[in-house]
Amino acid sequence: MDAAGATAVDQAEGLPPPKTLVDWALQILDTADPDEKARLGDLAATQWLRGAIPLPYDPAQSPRAPPDRPARSDAVRLLPPSRMPKLGKGGSAQSRLAMLHSLAHTESWAVDLSWDIVARFGAQLHMPREFFDDFARVAQDEGRHFAVLSARLRELGSHYGALPAHDGLWDSAMSTSHCLLARLAVEHCVHEARGLDVLPTTISRFRAGGDEQTAKLLEDIIYPEEVTHCAAGVRWFRYLCLRPRTSDPIIHPIPESKPQSSELPESGTAIIKRFHSIVREHFRGPLKPPFNTEARKAAGFEPAWYEPLAVKEAETQTIEPREV
Ligand SMILES: [Fe+2]
Ligand SMILES: [Fe+2]
Repeated sequence: MDAAGATAVDQAEGLPPPKTLVDWALQILDTADPDEKARLGDLAATQWLRGAIPLPYDPAQSPRAPPDRPARSDAVRLLPPSRMPKLGKGGSAQSRLAMLHSLAHTESWAVDLSWDIVARFGAQLHMPREFFDDFARVAQDEGRHFAVLSARLRELGSHYGALPAHDGLWDSAMSTSHCLLARLAVEHCVHEARGLDVLPTTISRFRAGGDEQTAKLLEDIIYPEEVTHCAAGVRWFRYLCLRPRTSDPIIHPIPESKPQSSELPESGTAIIKRFHSIVREHFRGPLKPPFNTEARKAAGFEPAWYEPLAVKEAETQTIEPREV
C-alpha cells in the first residue's frame, strides 16, 4: 500500500491502515457510507492487483470474523420485501427512477458480498492468491457499478436513499455464511446468473422509455462485467470440488449417486451433481426460466448446471421473483 492509500483509510476510519487484503475487506465491511465503501474498495483492489499489498492475510494470525451484516447507511430506509412498492415496468419516469434506485441498491450489496467472501473464507480455507485477485476485481466492478448508477440518480435529480430499499438482499448471504461452496453456488452462480437473465429486459425498458443514457451504462459497463462475476463463481466452485480433501469440515460431501451423462468427464458430472445438491439445500424454490443461455455460456455456466434445477416455464406464474 502506498502512503496515499494509508492516509485515505486513516482519515476515513481513524484506524490503523490495513496490512492485508482481508484487513481491507473487514474495514470496507465496517464502512457504512455506500460511496465511501465503493471508494475504499476501489482503492484496496487497485493496491492489491498492483502488488502493493503484500499478503492476502497474515498466516500467523486468525483474522476476526466479518460482521453478520455489513455496516449500512441509516440514510437508506430499508423495508421488508413484502412492503416494497412495485417498481413497475419502466413505462413512466417514476418507474424508471425506482428501477434505477433498486439497481444501485443491489450493486451496493454486491460490493459487500464480494468483500465478505474474501474476509470470511479466504484465510479460513487457505485460498490461493488467484481467489483474492478474482474477488478483488469483482468487488471493484461492483463498486464502479454502484458509483455510475448513483451518479445517474443524481443526474436525474434524485439520489441513492431517496426511495426505500429492499431489506432481503443479505438473507442468502447469511444462510450461506457457514460454507464457501454454498456461498459460491447461491450468490456467485445462481444470483449472478439471474442478473444476466433479467438485465437485457431491464436495458430495453430504459431504452423504450427514452433513457438511452442509463440503457448504455447497463449495456456497456455493467452487463459484460456481470458475466465475469458468474464465471468467478463457477471457477471457484469447481476449484473447491477438485481440491484434494483435507479435514476441512466446511466442504459438503459429494452426493452418492453415480454420474449419468457420458458427455461430461466423470469429475465434471460429479461437480455438477454436487452443485445441484447444494442449490436445492440452500436456495428456496426452483430456478426461473427463461435463461440467458448465451451469457451464462460465456461465463462457463452450461445448461447442465442449471436446467435440472428449473421449473417448467408454464409453472413460473407461481414462483416469486427473486430479483430486485
Ligand atoms: Fe454489478
Ligand atoms: Fe455482479
